[in-house]
Amino acid sequence: WLGPVAALVLGYFLGSIPFGVLITRAAGAGDLRQIGSGNIGATNVLRTGRKGLAAATLLLDLLKGWLAVFLVSLAFPGNEVFAAAGAFVGHCYPVWLRFRGGKGVATLMGIVLALHWPCGLVYAVVWLALLAGLRISSLSGMAAAISAPVSAAFFGQFDYVLPLLALALIVLWKHRTNIDRLLAGTEPRVGSRK
Ligand code: G3P
Repeated sequence: WLGPVAALVLGYFLGSIPFGVLITRAAGAGDLRQIGSGNIGATNVLRTGRKGLAAATLLLDLLKGWLAVFLVSLAFPGNEVFAAAGAFVGHCYPVWLRFRGGKGVATLMGIVLALHWPCGLVYAVVWLALLAGLRISSLSGMAAAISAPVSAAFFGQFDYVLPLLALALIVLWKHRTNIDRLLAGTEPRVGSRK
């Protein structure tokens, strides 16, 4: 039981580092939770008007997911799925922010890249292509998240299909207000400050 528990705990604490909040505060750009959607992810950091801070948030949120799985693959091989779950839950429900965390899109990309890089590549392509075409971050992120269990099945990574499906469903759950806005036609496009 040591491997799974260690992987979950290590994953959780890495995933729970709220880079968006920390970076925005350190740059003197305010409290991210009082800005735009109030979300702690890169899309909302972009609403501060600071592209560099948003890029750094995206990269670090991605890296922490990747690192959790990578470290566990070295220290407790065979427990990567527990690291993935821990890091994802840590990002979405961090104890430091009273469990009000992010929506999981960037962190899940890092996780998927570390679990099986071809699935991560599909994730990145789906996300970037939709983002470039539609300029709606939430919709692009949700589609990318759903691509993960599908591409895992396609590439024969059957152990990852159900865990990735569960994480994708949490991504959808975390986007429920975005889904309401998408249906109402009021979801802001990337670049707008609302
Ligand atoms: O990953 C978060 C993004 O999909 C939506 O963010 O701030 O527009 O709710 P936001």
